[in-house]
Amino acid sequence: MNENWFRENLKRVGATQEDLAKAIGRDRAVVSRVIRGRQALNLEWAEPFARVLQVPVSAVLRQAGLALEPAPTRRIIVGISGATGVEYGVRLLTLLKQLEIESHLVMSRAAEIAMTQETDYKPREIATQADKYYHINDVAAAIASGSFKTMGMIIAPCSIRSMSEIASGATSNLLTRAADVVLKERRRLVLMVRESPLHGGHLRNMARLSDLGAIIAPPMPAFYPRPKSLEEMVDHGLGRVLDLFDLETAGLQRWGEDIGLR
Ligand SMILES: Cc1cc2nc3c(=O)[nH]c(=O)nc-3n(C[C@H](O)[C@H](O)[C@H](O)COP(=O)(O)O)c2cc1C
Repeated sequence: MNENWFRENLKRVGATQEDLAKAIGRDRAVVSRVIRGRQALNLEWAEPFARVLQVPVSAVLRQAGLALEPAPTRRIIVGISGATGVEYGVRLLTLLKQLEIESHLVMSRAAEIAMTQETDYKPREIATQADKYYHINDVAAAIASGSFKTMGMIIAPCSIRSMSEIASGATSNLLTRAADVVLKERRRLVLMVRESPLHGGHLRNMARLSDLGAIIAPPMPAFYPRPKSLEEMVDHGLGRVLDLFDLETAGLQRWGEDIGLR
């Protein structure tokens, strides 16, 4: 039983052991014993625990030492390039942590400039939020090779410059090289391309990338979930991108399921 993991996730979602107890219909003392490893987790409690902690059921089982088989390597490369909306990349790191996906981060120099211009984040602090951070010029990094297995890469946001470089195949830094590797290995590459308006050259590069197997997913907000904040808007966009990896983001509002019901 990973006591720290349970405590950290309770803190993250602002819940208490009392909430877990209520979810399983037992007293807090039972929850406390389970978390401290003094009592085994009843399998039926995994689902309500997961609901309160906003994590997958498999994560609860794994942290309780009940996983039946070792988890496959679950890594995603996160690229942050110098387009407006670096918040998308930053928030993505948090969502991947919640989903227990190892994040491998590379940020361009322009991304660091945009970050200091449009947010209060310090690039160095953001680097520590990833499981692994690579310098943009480190072309000998693990993610520069196809033999390093990943689920794929998300560039959030993706500048026109980086997008064009990936479309050409003539890559000049680790971010675009890693994307090229993901393409050649036929893994998932999602580009949250951000520019407006677009000229024919931009559009042709997008079409080219789509033909090569990349997914062009510009950060275009959906209004049907009626977002109440910028954070909710960003999270919805990222939830839809994570759908492309078959990853279920807690709290994602789905049309026909949570909203839009007649
Ligand atoms: C605050 C800020 C916002 C920017 N927004 C965009 C943008 O939305 N889209 C874009 O393609 N470039 C944007 N740029 C310009 C890119 O940063 C620039 O083209 C840079 O060379 C991209 O380099 P990279 O692809 O290595 O990150 C922006 C620059 C700054 C400083």
